[in-house]
Amino acid sequence: SPSDQPYRTSFHFQVPKNWMNDPNGPMYYNGVYHFFYQHNPSGPLFHPRMYWGHSVSRDLINWTPLDPAFAPTEPFDINGCWSGSATILPGNKPVMLYTGLDTENCQVQNLAVPKDLSDPHLREWVKHTGNPIINVPDGIKHDDFRDPSTAWHADDGKWRIIVGSRREGTGMAFLYRSEDFVNWSMWESPLYEVAGSGIWECPDFFPVCVDSNNGVDTSVMNSRVKHVLKMAAFDCGRDYYLIGNYNPENEHFVPQSELTLGSLRYDYGKFYASKSFFDPVKNRRILMGWVNESDSDEDAHAKGWSGLQSFPRSIWLDQNQKQLVQWPIEEFKMLHENEVSFKNKSLEAGSLHEILGITASQADVNVSFKLTNLEEAEELDLSGIDPQVFCSEMDASKKGKFGPFGILALASHDLSEQTAISFRVYKNNGRYTVLMCSDQSRSSTRNGLDKTTYGAFVDIDPQQDEISLRTLIDHSIVESFGGGGKTCITARVYPTLAIGDEAHLFAFNYGTESVLISELSAWSVKKAHINIEETNGGAY
Ligand code: FRU
Repeated sequence: SPSDQPYRTSFHFQVPKNWMNDPNGPMYYNGVYHFFYQHNPSGPLFHPRMYWGHSVSRDLINWTPLDPAFAPTEPFDINGCWSGSATILPGNKPVMLYTGLDTENCQVQNLAVPKDLSDPHLREWVKHTGNPIINVPDGIKHDDFRDPSTAWHADDGKWRIIVGSRREGTGMAFLYRSEDFVNWSMWESPLYEVAGSGIWECPDFFPVCVDSNNGVDTSVMNSRVKHVLKMAAFDCGRDYYLIGNYNPENEHFVPQSELTLGSLRYDYGKFYASKSFFDPVKNRRILMGWVNESDSDEDAHAKGWSGLQSFPRSIWLDQNQKQLVQWPIEEFKMLHENEVSFKNKSLEAGSLHEILGITASQADVNVSFKLTNLEEAEELDLSGIDPQVFCSEMDASKKGKFGPFGILALASHDLSEQTAISFRVYKNNGRYTVLMCSDQSRSSTRNGLDKTTYGAFVDIDPQQDEISLRTLIDHSIVESFGGGGKTCITARVYPTLAIGDEAHLFAFNYGTESVLISELSAWSVKKAHINIEETNGGAY
């Protein structure tokens, strides 16, 4: 019941029990979205002997659970079916590439196809008898070679994939090419590599349009696209991405900037091993990422489950072509109810305003702040500052001039529990810097939780743009989109008081300057049917 399981979610993808990590092979096929995931069916903690869990949906909101698509049964995957990706071949034929841990625990790449293309659920998958199709390259450690990407093809008719790896400390994405999807040869150099970055997991490589928010198929290549290379940097547990130009003739990918610890990330909180896919129904690219727990192994045993997926996000290139933008998929609105909204409310210095009339433990809130007397902003040069460290030191209780202002999610009535998502604005030489923080330090009265504070810059100019914040609150996950989706921060929290009907939501301004809420809308979110084995009329 909900009271024994206060941390289960209502609209975030989760499994009824046991462990889940990476999203695998998301795809659309004949009216149905498929989602696969790394799953340990025997317990709530990670175990290398992974299965591929499988669920299907018609709307990306409600999900019907199916039997695992892959179990570790063959010599080429007997020690685990690890992450991989789907490709839709010409003639509308889905195929899957995934990493197997073989009898020697070597990481090899395998191919599988649906047994029956006329089964709308594609329940059964057949592993290619010639597996593995790709072995560990010479000079690479047997357990440093995994997570094949979705394939793309170029005018020469050849398919390409990348596979995550490292040589010593140099993280890389090996490139393979094939004419028939079965015989693959390694390209002379990796698609990209970065010294000192450690192993890359779950690499993703896809085009984004320079002049439209629409997504395009992974094989689209023309002068109106740039390419995104995403890598899950294991050593720091972060999904970084680079935007650049790709030339399939010489296989050069030239990013606009270098990969550093301060590089662009999909999400500056908990979000890892994500994967994107092209949705031809709505011509968009959709991204989902694994959001792991912040509580302990003992807690996992008590709960019986671990791991969430982020809410599906549309992802596109910002107009300035310097970064990506993400936004919860529009289907979310089918779960909205009890809208409350208001306009033009001034939040005076030090004020708190409760948002009443919605279920604050299960909510969507979208607010825009307008700053009028910006010349009053504090002078501070934040260049070279790590925004996460800054947010940790300047927690939400520390007053500034402009900020912190934002919302308190999952707050108890006495505010002893609260997750503060907020902004601070500084000026330096006539230019403004907007900082976004997600402060988990007071999120629970419980100890033994990871309450790390997150922070990142939002690349907007508050002289022109209002500062917007959209936050999806779902019992133990708080997913925030700042600046219209330019900066995303996801956090896990485990309140003990602010649960169920006892949770409250506030807008706040602890700065000494007042700010204007130009508009606020909030909704209760209905419970989606996610992986519940009952005939509920939900997903189908
Ligand atoms: C990323 C990852 C992948 C691997 C899978 C195993 O979280 O380590 O590299 O394929 O998880 O579950």
